[in-house]
Amino acid sequence: MLNDLVIAQVSDLHIGPSDALYRGVRIRQKFLDVLQALAKKPLDLLILSGDLSATQGEPEAYTWIKQVLSDFPYPYLIMAGNHDHVERMTLAFCLPDSDVSEGMLYYSRMISNKLLLFLDSSPYRIARRQLKWLKSKLTNYHKPVLLFIHHPPLLCDCQFMDDHHALLNIREVWKVFDKLPQIQHIFTGHYHAAKTVTKKNKFIHLTPSTIFQIDMEKPYFAIEHTRPGWRIIHWGEEIRTYVEYL
Ligand SMILES: [Fe+2]
Repeated sequence: MLNDLVIAQVSDLHIGPSDALYRGVRIRQKFLDVLQALAKKPLDLLILSGDLSATQGEPEAYTWIKQVLSDFPYPYLIMAGNHDHVERMTLAFCLPDSDVSEGMLYYSRMISNKLLLFLDSSPYRIARRQLKWLKSKLTNYHKPVLLFIHHPPLLCDCQFMDDHHALLNIREVWKVFDKLPQIQHIFTGHYHAAKTVTKKNKFIHLTPSTIFQIDMEKPYFAIEHTRPGWRIIHWGEEIRTYVEYL
């Protein structure tokens, strides 16, 4: 349908500075395989929802990702995760000044008359400044929006990640989200898991990683499987979303 928006979300690429294996996984090749599969789909947009680089914002990783994406047939947007470095991302991807403020990568896009909002949770918090910005963006906007955040803004019954890697200011964040009915769907990564949870009439979707998925049942770190995954978001009359694996 005209004005429908079809988005692919990929997350937690963890591309290293070289083509070395990680835990036996060919990290870069997995991302290439995912891009090859997504290039065949009818998409409007690709969103890379953080942890693009392996551990600490390696510039070689960003250079490689940008070069690889130059052949991808659809536009893309990037977000920062806790393993990213916003300043180095800004340089490598030539991000517009308006998308970066006080070292945080948060911004909005209006595409096909639909509003997408992107927050930066890379320091394990969503800064008060971003929450104020979010409120102001939606003060006079009364249609549904999509919100993207690297970290799920709640505990998700994924024991290892909830215990060790959860967002730190969940309560503060929900004081704002509670008052924003325009936000019905929140798309996240970080947990290396596919799941949808609900809180206060909002759907929070977790999108798997392109390299490995973490066992949600175990209290310790364990890889469930190494099939790369992604999420498709189809925004027409309503939102339809699902996860696919290679
Ligand atoms: Fe992360």
